[in-house]
Amino acid sequence: MKYYLETYGCQMNEADSEVVASILENSGLIRTEDPKEADIILVNSCAVRENAEKRALARLSQYKGYKKDPEVMLGLLGCVPARKQDQLLEKYPFIDIIMGPDSYRELKKVLSENQYPISNTELSNQELYDNIEPKRQEGLNAWISIMRGCNQFCSYCIVPFTRGRERSRPFESIINEAREIAYQSIPQITLLGQNVNAYKYKDYRFPDVLEGVAQVDEIRRIRFMSPHPKDFTDRMLEVMKKYDNICNHIHLPLQSGSSKILSAMNRTYTKEDYLELVNKIKSILPDIALTTDIIVGFPGETDEDFKDTLDVMDQVGFDNAFMFQYSPRPGTSAAKHLEDNIPYDTKNARLQKIIKKQHTATQKKNQELVGERIEVLIEGTSKKREDELVGRTESDKLVILKAGQGNIGEFMDVKIIGTAGVSLFGEIPAKSED
Ligand code: SAH
Ligand code: SF4
Ligand code: F3S
Repeated sequence: MKYYLETYGCQMNEADSEVVASILENSGLIRTEDPKEADIILVNSCAVRENAEKRALARLSQYKGYKKDPEVMLGLLGCVPARKQDQLLEKYPFIDIIMGPDSYRELKKVLSENQYPISNTELSNQELYDNIEPKRQEGLNAWISIMRGCNQFCSYCIVPFTRGRERSRPFESIINEAREIAYQSIPQITLLGQNVNAYKYKDYRFPDVLEGVAQVDEIRRIRFMSPHPKDFTDRMLEVMKKYDNICNHIHLPLQSGSSKILSAMNRTYTKEDYLELVNKIKSILPDIALTTDIIVGFPGETDEDFKDTLDVMDQVGFDNAFMFQYSPRPGTSAAKHLEDNIPYDTKNARLQKIIKKQHTATQKKNQELVGERIEVLIEGTSKKREDELVGRTESDKLVILKAGQGNIGEFMDVKIIGTAGVSLFGEIPAKSED
């Protein structure tokens, strides 16, 4: 039997798909990259914005055609099932498997008992998939989910409803997994959690995990996603400063620069708190690259509020940003209590404005790197051009090199010679420059 698995959404979903793949392959299934060949077609879905949800459901409807063969099973996994639960079977009666993010162990039973349809969207307070070794898809980066769920309940966000309550993996099991990853010669680990620095297991907190993983020999790069500003402690910064293998990059979601909007979002920090934190980060880690997430058009966002967001962008100088229009998610407190009252055109104009602003800022930051020598991990051949290699700096910037200058998986000392959009061009300096 063959399975096909497609993943949408955040890195947590990517990591979960590796758990799903492990469960399926341990049951004897073989992966295929061609859905036409598959006996089981699975879509691991994201519900964070309406568009994400629509995309997953559209894919599923597209795969409905493959069910002409009645033996072919179609499944929807992840955050959409966790949100929509039983409505799904009514609307999409052709789906055979509906599973939320905490139910994947059941896949084994489903396969052996062959009873469809099956729907399990219950969330668990304990499930950590701790003893399942993920079937890693990538050769150069290993995800480790160190905590699951979210207790923050930002008013716009569906995640606490799709992923349930916070729970953290035992410290020892994380370190053991890191050692196993080092043994497999994977050079990079990314620690994952919806609120990664809320990690709490016995007396262990997030800085302990960072430090423990940093001490594993052979792990050259450690990243983490996403910290919440409210749980950002001085100890995190101390540990980051102490260990060279923790990347000089922090993804620090801002969401809005207006204290009024931040309060309505239940982010539990103000504009000033955020800026103060950024200043502290920059004073301890002067070379830090900062990236962020921003939402525009949240209910009640005035031009003044939006100006605050622009102002924070100016003051911080983010290296990169993921930017979104507010999308009301049924069931969240914002969707229940606040009218989605910013017209589409205003939302869109604000989004275009910050995208342009960020693009200029990213280019300016990149321009400053021209002439510098930076360590780059070669990740692969460019999708667009076969004669180009693509690598990444520890600050998460893409660097394009001519093919033949290095091998995939190698760390190279690269001289930055120019910029290309939001990427960098580099070359291996001639020996005489050493
Ligand atoms: N746990 C992570 C983010 C999870 S979702 C964190 O707290 O940083 C990723 C991003 O999607 C969020 O940071 C936010 O910017 C955006 N997002 C979440 N819900 C949204 C919504 N309803 N509309 C628009 N963007 C949203
Ligand atoms: Fe959503 Fe907020 Fe939790 Fe992030 S911290 S997952 S934005 S509720
Ligand atoms: Fe999406 Fe679920 Fe991640 S809603 S962003 S896949 S936690």
